[in-house]
Amino acid sequence: MATQYKVPSNDNSGILIAGAAGFGLGLLASVGRKAAVQAVTYAAGDWFEGLKAEHKMAMGIIELMEATTTEDVKKRATLLLQLQHALGKHAIQEEDVIYCALRALGDAASADELGHEHNAEVKQGLYDLEQIDKSSPSWLARVAELKADIEAHVRKEEDEVFPALRAKLSDEENRKLTNRMNREGFKVA
Ligand SMILES: [Fe+2]
Ligand SMILES: [Fe+2]
Repeated sequence: MATQYKVPSNDNSGILIAGAAGFGLGLLASVGRKAAVQAVTYAAGDWFEGLKAEHKMAMGIIELMEATTTEDVKKRATLLLQLQHALGKHAIQEEDVIYCALRALGDAASADELGHEHNAEVKQGLYDLEQIDKSSPSWLARVAELKADIEAHVRKEEDEVFPALRAKLSDEENRKLTNRMNREGFKVA
């Protein structure tokens, strides 16, 4: 890349300027796209509500997967990519911020258990769905298994662990946690 921007001995500076402008625009477009992706979580107002909105969004993608048939190979691949992206970002926000806060406040057991479920169930499920032939009926069977795993994980987070964490923190501390989580999400959005 860098060699493209070397000072030219002959005059092709026009091309170089166009290239540099394109690079800048690309960067802006990427920042805009990231902001749009993080907007749903950010708009929810606080970290817990943001994560709940993301759980809902992931379930929505899974329901679209369930509605596909063995004919919808391309659609299955597109939905799987969307789910991988959504859950990848979600996992970074939880693992790099929320679960660390849990551990720091004395609930290492929940942090470990939830982190283990991300790896052993969610990431494994997404990997398997990538591997299984999308024109095979076993693809939907694996979707159902992943859905059940995610539902159980989400119930633990939304009904037990996250409300307890939010209650341990002051309004100001919850605001700080929300900002930190949105920053992490934006990085990988
Ligand atoms: Fe989680
Ligand atoms: Fe979650």
